[in-house]
Amino acid sequence: MNIAVVGTGYVGLVSGTCFAETGNNVMCVDIDANKIDQLRAGKVPIYEPDLEILFERNQRQGRLKFTTDLQEAVDMAEVIFLALPTPPGEDGQADLKYILGVAKDLSKMVTKYTVIVDKSTVPVGTAEKVNAALLEHLDGSLFDVVSNPEFLREGVAVNDFLKPDRVVIGTDTERAEKVMRRLYEPFVRSGNPIIFMDLRSAEMTKYAANSYLATRITFMNEVANLCEQVGADVDAVRKGMGSDTRIGKRFLFPGVGYGGSCFPKDVQALAHTSNQYDYEFKILNAVMDVNTRQRFRIADKLQEAYGDDLKNKTIAMWGLAFKPNTDDIREAPALYTIDRLIEAGATIRAFDPEAMDNVKAVYGDKVIFCEDQYEALKGADCLAIMTEWSMFRTPDFNYMSSLLNEPVVFDGRNLYDVERMKEAGFKYNSIGREAIS
Ligand code: UDX
Repeated sequence: MNIAVVGTGYVGLVSGTCFAETGNNVMCVDIDANKIDQLRAGKVPIYEPDLEILFERNQRQGRLKFTTDLQEAVDMAEVIFLALPTPPGEDGQADLKYILGVAKDLSKMVTKYTVIVDKSTVPVGTAEKVNAALLEHLDGSLFDVVSNPEFLREGVAVNDFLKPDRVVIGTDTERAEKVMRRLYEPFVRSGNPIIFMDLRSAEMTKYAANSYLATRITFMNEVANLCEQVGADVDAVRKGMGSDTRIGKRFLFPGVGYGGSCFPKDVQALAHTSNQYDYEFKILNAVMDVNTRQRFRIADKLQEAYGDDLKNKTIAMWGLAFKPNTDDIREAPALYTIDRLIEAGATIRAFDPEAMDNVKAVYGDKVIFCEDQYEALKGADCLAIMTEWSMFRTPDFNYMSSLLNEPVVFDGRNLYDVERMKEAGFKYNSIGREAIS
């Protein structure tokens, strides 16, 4: 099939590349000429495992092309995906200006039957707005609007896209359903479902799924905080809970709060939608409050240990990205922690295998950026772990002790066994487990 993807952000780029990988012709469109030049030159602007290999192959074989000319893409496409940003406005509502802007442009450009797909996470009712924008200059028989929310996770985006647990399609016509089924069948050959539903339900599914996952994590963060008080071990509790198949093992890891480009934004947007309908979605308000507090959990622990004033303290920090295998620092708990520590006067020596350039762009020389994880420990009074990169899981503890002024670790991701740390002579404070002091 011939496909256009408008917007070459995370979702657009991964979707476009993976559609090309299954044999479709894909044209990606962006208004940013510089970005399109880079992409044409084979440069992938984001760090995402496996993406470059697929990108290179499909570009080389001519199935993946780039343009700034929307008309060119519209002319070739049977299906147009809108993968545009929906930044939260000041009131927490997703801003639809990009999506509706492109819909207006399309209404003047489409000349043959085209399926127009909302891929971005958009509030319930957006498909109807897109439909209305398209109807401005276009006959209703020439297009259908479909909602197809994307569930990929950063860091495993390619795999998630190629082998989705499910594909959700919101549509109100059989014609569009047929096109979407044809497009997605290669991705669900193992038998995972393509679930068709109405447009509003599809839009709601995405918010409900992300908000539920954010709630689940938040619930575990509160369980962990309470474990610390009552003297229980959240690792054991997590395993005990997760073995119940009704609960399941995944997404139960406590830590320093959820971050990233989706959960914070989507929880806020769903709460806002509820308010618009005069319904108070109480759990979501609690989730946002708890997560705001949890982001500072490690900073709080540091200040409990050393006092509010950290002027004479040097803190090593491992991990800056909001999660491993990405260079994305949007809503990263590490940044909230850095802000608090800088405010308290601390010196920070940071290391992250992928995200340092992005953090440098924000903090400049307010943070000392180190070449590797051990370099960050030199002369530091303690280590704070903010992201669970695999490379941090089996460090040389003796070497760590020799570099740190004192063997002290504050672990926001529960990477190490508490007994092991005790034996290695560390003071060790993690989330929801016994603290060794
Ligand atoms: C999420 C959704 O998982 C995905 O379906 C959607 O399309 C986009 O939003 P992503 O933001 O890439 O994906 O990351 P995810 O792996 O879901 O992690 C989100 C946050 O939750 C991270 O900050 C992570 O550290 C945190 N998290 C996750 C936990 O604290 N504990 C867990 O058990 C799992």
